[in-house]
Amino acid sequence: MSLSLKEAIAMRKSVKEFDPNVKIPHEEMLEMIKLAAEAPSSVNLQPWRFVVVESDEAKASIKDLVRFNTRQLETSAAFILVLSDNQHIHDMEKVYGKSVELGYMPQEVMTTNVAALKDALSQAPESYIRMQGMMDANLAAMQLMLIAKDHGYDTNPIGGFERDEVMDALRINKERYIPVMFIAIGKGTKAPHDSSRHEIEEIVAFNSGDAEGKIGK
Ligand SMILES: Cc1cc2nc3c(=O)[nH]c(=O)nc-3n(C[C@H](O)[C@H](O)[C@H](O)COP(=O)(O)O)c2cc1C
Repeated sequence: MSLSLKEAIAMRKSVKEFDPNVKIPHEEMLEMIKLAAEAPSSVNLQPWRFVVVESDEAKASIKDLVRFNTRQLETSAAFILVLSDNQHIHDMEKVYGKSVELGYMPQEVMTTNVAALKDALSQAPESYIRMQGMMDANLAAMQLMLIAKDHGYDTNPIGGFERDEVMDALRINKERYIPVMFIAIGKGTKAPHDSSRHEIEEIVAFNSGDAEGKIGK
């Protein structure tokens, strides 16, 4: 399939029931995630990580932890847990080193940037680093849902789950990784419900929050 961006956006809707016979080959899953990982991230540190829960055994291990989302878990091809690595700032040399190697960044720029960033980030509170990582991972998650649509799959972003217990069940280091959301993915069995949106006039102000009294104090 090759949808236009507009079509992918218009066609993406949260789907809650999937054809349980549809599985996604690893090659295709990796292709979709690779594209999702083209998302922008703060100083390009790419904190997103993905755990693809697809086997019956792995799904069973989180069955009681996904609250009201069991139908999606049982019928989807996979439940993709999007994570953020809260140690991502330590990837700086690795990321920029790769850019230097590929000729995307001069060595001197890397040296200056790494020093400046390390200085700035060493003073940032941990909560800031975590928030930044979540922000970046959310962008990759959104991108993944649109790419999935282009591959002919439906998705449902899922925030309703027992975070701590899911991390334990899937044996993920919870000191280091923060669960952002699950994305249920598969082929929907029926047309999804439509959902309304705010009117554009209600959500945009130009130049200041209090323009037209909308987003002001
Ligand atoms: C961060 C996040 C968490 C969500 N959590 C759930 C969830 O736990 N279960 C569910 O059925 N839908 C969940 N949704 C889907 C929303 O209900 C849905 O996106 C919204 O109603 C708009 O509908 P649409 O996605 O079809 O456009 C979540 C969406 C987001 C973005």
